[in-house]
Amino acid sequence: MRGNDLERFLNVSNLVVLNCVADKRHPFLFQMKLQPIEHQHLKECANLFVSVFSNPPWNENWEIESAFNRLEDFYNMPWSHSVVAILEERIIGFAIGYIERWHQGNSFYLKEMCVESTKQQSGVGTKIMDVLSQNLVDKGVNKIYLLTARDSLASAFYSKCGFCNNSKIIMMSKTL
Ligand SMILES: CC(C)(COP(=O)(O)OP(=O)(O)OC[C@H]1O[C@@H](n2cnc3c(N)ncnc32)[C@H](O)[C@@H]1OP(=O)(O)O)[C@@H](O)C(=O)NCCC(=O)NCCS
Repeated sequence: MRGNDLERFLNVSNLVVLNCVADKRHPFLFQMKLQPIEHQHLKECANLFVSVFSNPPWNENWEIESAFNRLEDFYNMPWSHSVVAILEERIIGFAIGYIERWHQGNSFYLKEMCVESTKQQSGVGTKIMDVLSQNLVDKGVNKIYLLTARDSLASAFYSKCGFCNNSKIIMMSKTL
């Protein structure tokens, strides 16, 4: 093995070891299945959504039916894209949104993402984001964007995943 090859081999080996150590803390991640959301998953996703977003900082009070309708709307979008995490036949997290055409290439608008409260901070969200991002790259998407609460745990998560604030854009809203 030549010097460079050996160096590359050692680097790759180190990475693999680090991944194993990280996953050893949460062995269930090895059993978790990641796949696109199917229509039959939407009811369970809606239940998870209602439960997760009833907690702080969101404190949202969703009816199951409204949550289902919201997720079904995104599911039915022509360029819908999603990932659901399933552990032992149970949905423990998901992300859903849709691809938009833009003059600089296609973007993905991530509309909803959540992980079951007892499974948060175990790496599930990161795995969902990794698979989502890889699938979107394969579809020619070059940007993901989203709205979230400023200075929140969610924004810390997205920063860790490589997202950053856009200093040129603000969100504006008007109550009618
Ligand atoms: C935000 C959310 C999807 C992240 O998924 P997750 O599985 O908890 O995230 P991970 O375990 O992969 O976390 C990765 C990183 O995010 C950050 N993070 C996630 N949750 C955090 C928390 N509660 N406190 C501090 N940092 C947190 C950390 O930097 C973490 O890295 P570390 O484990 O090396 O410290 C999930 O916590 C969630 O569903 N939260 C409630 C709903 C929500 O806020 N959804 C997003 C709305 S836009």
